[in-house]
Amino acid sequence: MSLFLSPEHVLQGGYFHATLRKLQEPNTSIEPHNIMYPVFLLEDDDAVQPVSSMPNVFRYGINQLIIALEDLVLKGLKSILIFGIVETLPKDPTGTAADAPSNPVIKALPKLREAYPQLLIACDVCLCPYTSHGHCGVLTAAGAIDHAASTKRIAEVALAYAKAGAHVVAPSDMMDNRIKAIKDALVANKLQNQVSVLSYSCKFASCMYGPFRDTMKSSPMEGDRKCYQLPPGSAALAARAAARDVAEGADLLMVKPGLPYLDIVRQTKDKFPNHPLFIYQVSGEYAMISRSGSASEVQATLMETLTCMRRAGADCIITYFVPQILNIISNKN
Ligand code: PBG
Ligand code: ZN
Repeated sequence: MSLFLSPEHVLQGGYFHATLRKLQEPNTSIEPHNIMYPVFLLEDDDAVQPVSSMPNVFRYGINQLIIALEDLVLKGLKSILIFGIVETLPKDPTGTAADAPSNPVIKALPKLREAYPQLLIACDVCLCPYTSHGHCGVLTAAGAIDHAASTKRIAEVALAYAKAGAHVVAPSDMMDNRIKAIKDALVANKLQNQVSVLSYSCKFASCMYGPFRDTMKSSPMEGDRKCYQLPPGSAALAARAAARDVAEGADLLMVKPGLPYLDIVRQTKDKFPNHPLFIYQVSGEYAMISRSGSASEVQATLMETLTCMRRAGADCIITYFVPQILNIISNKN
């Protein structure tokens, strides 16, 4: 046996210094444009409510949200994703409250645009927070998804948010062909060059949405979402779903949840390198990481997960940890 190592197998000379290590991890930095902050918006403009299943997460009325965002914008916040919650507006089978003039998202958009003119504002588009049955689409009398009625309704809601001032509409319903329906509605209203469509293209039927559904009061009354969200074991359906949405004109793609699905992230980025790719680090992932140890352990675990998501091919990560991340990266700089 030789006493000498073969030179091509000596790796440690390449990463013993922090600056060298940075060069060994290309495209994995976390800057403010690489994170998007999901926010829950209440009907009552002055309300603030903690979310019991998610430590340090709150639901805000618009006046309180504007106050809460101020410090984050100073620390570099670049984008938010808004979810509307209704408590007094009635829920019905077609989700009428989703685009009613009194919907909290529709009312808040002009105020947000005025308060933070540089902030990129995305809106989740779905019917489940607004339907009496709690499903993401419109149902037939027999209780199946009514496909034509669903895509039509989703496109109406997306258009209403676009008209109210959303820069990005993000349909999370997983109905086939809703991206085309939304794009057609934007074109018909001359908004196609002022609004992006962020498709929740590879969204799986995950048990990790539990804390979110509590917060949003958006669980289905009956049944589950397995007929429209993807089966967790299927990389093939994820590939077809991303291809469908690209063909229909999606500007931005997404994989959701994040950490257990990084193979899907890599597969999607390899297949569609020309589309920015988002990951949604979902409420269940937030709950797990938040409880992973001391504050410094949580912070280290969090930053490692984000690095790995970037390595897998994510350009932007939607995460409830945005306030903590901005603290970490603004203290570092
Ligand atoms: C609604 C929606 C869900 C999430 C985002 N939009 C829940 C679901 O599909 O049941 C999950 C977000 C999270 O868990 O953080 N269509
Ligand atoms: Zn939904």
